[in-house]
Amino acid sequence: MGREVLMAAAAALLVAALLVVGVSAHGRKGLVCTKELKEDGCNKTISDLFTVQTFEDMFKHRNDRAAHAAGFWTYDGFMAAAQMFEKDGFASVGGDDMQKRELAAFFAHVAHETSCGWSMAKDGPTAWGLCYNQELAPMKDYCKTGDLLYPCAPGAGYYGRGAFPLYWNYNYGPTGKALKQDLLHHPEILAQNETIAWQAAIWYWMTPAKTRPSPHEVMIGKWVPTKNDTLANRKPGFGMTINIKASDVECGHGDDPRMLSRISHYLDFLQNKFQVQDPGANLDCGLQGVVPLAYASI
Ligand SMILES: *[C@@H]1O[C@H](CO)[C@@H](O)[C@H](O)[C@H]1NC(C)=O
Ligand SMILES: *[C@@H]1O[C@H](CO)[C@@H](O)[C@H](O)[C@H]1NC(C)=O
Ligand SMILES: *[C@@H]1O[C@H](CO)[C@@H](O)[C@H](O)[C@H]1NC(C)=O
Repeated sequence: MGREVLMAAAAALLVAALLVVGVSAHGRKGLVCTKELKEDGCNKTISDLFTVQTFEDMFKHRNDRAAHAAGFWTYDGFMAAAQMFEKDGFASVGGDDMQKRELAAFFAHVAHETSCGWSMAKDGPTAWGLCYNQELAPMKDYCKTGDLLYPCAPGAGYYGRGAFPLYWNYNYGPTGKALKQDLLHHPEILAQNETIAWQAAIWYWMTPAKTRPSPHEVMIGKWVPTKNDTLANRKPGFGMTINIKASDVECGHGDDPRMLSRISHYLDFLQNKFQVQDPGANLDCGLQGVVPLAYASI
């Protein structure tokens, strides 16, 4: 073979490789992830792994008469928000099982925090997520006065809203800044615009803080415990995401019922809705030293 032929062949290969990377990096639907491509690290898009049917199975009672946000939460609203973070790796790295574990973990926290289920509820206690989109009878405005960066707006109440209910001006502030929404003056947006409600939750999921990794980094195995983490028994696994989310409220004191509820949601979603049997190690945080609660700050 002549040198030119070899060069042409090499160039063609390069173009083909760039095409594959380009297509998957843009998360375009319909990319066929063949066995060969998979070995090269081709990951399916979220919509390839997570269908409207799975969403309906997970949150089947959200539009019931007993629910408090009927009509608000939709598959399309979630997907619109998820696509914004797909390029950062949200539920799109590590192959099918890891991607499904991340989605199951994300939705487990969402479902636990927005559930109106109880132990004897129809279809079990994990079938009642997305029952709320805001705190119904807030007792206070959750305004920390004197916050120079994110001062409270007159009359605004920073009570629980969204898919990971957000509280306090110092949490609404950075979230709004990241999403380019004026949540300090208009915190109500989180209970009015579904896409922004999902974006706020995914942004939290994706963003580390000074004292802790992001739940995303934990679920994709990117977080490496420091010596301090190891001394405190903090290990990679779903339990560490509970530690990040709930700290000493649910972790470090054995079988806290709220911690156990998050774990049941995770196992139900992963094993029964995504058909992945292995949830990974270290599911709980009962014996972990707690990480200080820290919101992602920007
Ligand atoms: C797929 O995931 C692996 C593991 O995280 C990553 O190294 C690789 O870059 C990803 N591939 C694409 C095309 O995103
Ligand atoms: C919700 O927010 C998104 C993102 O900012 C925007 O594109 C959309 O128009 C909003 N929807 C409504 C109903 O206001
Ligand atoms: C490690 O833990 C000790 C004892 O709790 C603490 O004083 C120290 O600041 C920690 N180091 C880091 C890097 O977090």
